[in-house]
Amino acid sequence: MYKFGHYFLSKIDPELAHNISINAFKFGLYPKINHQQYEVLEQIIWGRGFKTPIGLAAGFDKNAEVINALFNLGFSFVEVGTVTPLPQKGNPKPRIHRFHSEKALINSLGFNNKGSDQFKKNILKSNIKNNSKDRVLGINIGNNKNTEDILDDLKKLFEDLYRFGDYITVNLSSPNTPGLRDNLKSNNFDRIVKGICKLREENNSKIPILFKISPDILPQDKKDIALIALSNDIEGLILTNTTINKNLLRTDLKGGVSGKPLLQKSNDLIRDFYTLTSGKIKIIGVGGVFSAEDILQKMHYGASLIQLYTSFIFNGPYYVDKLNKDLSQIVQEMGYKNISEIIGIKA
Ligand SMILES: Cc1cc2nc3c(=O)[nH]c(=O)nc-3n(C[C@H](O)[C@H](O)[C@H](O)COP(=O)(O)O)c2cc1C
Repeated sequence: MYKFGHYFLSKIDPELAHNISINAFKFGLYPKINHQQYEVLEQIIWGRGFKTPIGLAAGFDKNAEVINALFNLGFSFVEVGTVTPLPQKGNPKPRIHRFHSEKALINSLGFNNKGSDQFKKNILKSNIKNNSKDRVLGINIGNNKNTEDILDDLKKLFEDLYRFGDYITVNLSSPNTPGLRDNLKSNNFDRIVKGICKLREENNSKIPILFKISPDILPQDKKDIALIALSNDIEGLILTNTTINKNLLRTDLKGGVSGKPLLQKSNDLIRDFYTLTSGKIKIIGVGGVFSAEDILQKMHYGASLIQLYTSFIFNGPYYVDKLNKDLSQIVQEMGYKNISEIIGIKA
């Protein structure tokens, strides 16, 4: 039934398919999978237990509505959001496009979400805090489109939400919010990093803070970001968001490309940042993961964890469980005791 459901969803408008999936998940309509435990895949990072390195990237559950369903499908961590302080509609539709043969999506959503009040209510309703053994929740925050100073929005979101997650991601890399990526330039980035770290201190919080980076940055930006990240002791970088480079898809559609065409670019950034930070800052690798081999490659280049989004859309609800199985088998066959041993060995 679920395989047929997934096939049907792959034939209709992608945003409609997404909304149907979210509603189905809300009503418990997803396969009940008996997941195995794989000791070889377990890691402790930032004091949190990750059952496997595979997490769901931001943007699927923007309003934190179906957290438990996503964990039940096999993700060891789920990043909800991007949430903005106020609700916003996002860009005009249609704004998600599938490219089946290229295994890619283009989206120009523009942080459509129900705002932080509803987001907080949804997290509380999920009861994740009392339910959370080995379920790591990331909260991805971003600014409203017309905000004058991004830091005001980020501070408000941080204060509102830091108690509810296991880590906070500051998203400075969506291509669909005008000007957002300018915040990855040295002076702006430094100001934002310092502002958020200070706020954490003032709140006596120790929540890990991560920054999500664009794959389209210049070599000098990489150096600057690495330096600022190191000197402020931030806990992690998420590499990467979608790319605005559409060469491989030959289309004029607006938005960011995710999926297979992003794989190489994302891997290059992981390798560069792992080297630039001497492996001192944890990297979550994201972009174009479709197989256990893709995961190994990202980890070889320096990622400690990985996330995916597009392959989940293309492959359906049984897919994460299969990836976990495949990955544990390969790592064991390679003779490693734990997957953490492979991090950065090919950087
Ligand atoms: C439809 C869609 C919506 C997304 N929304 C967000 C978002 O709100 N915040 C964010 O940080 N990334 C967002 N992303 C980017 C993903 O989190 C991820 O970084 C990117 O898709 C690359 O991973 P993938 O190739 O596995 O899809 C979105 C991606 C897609 C396809």
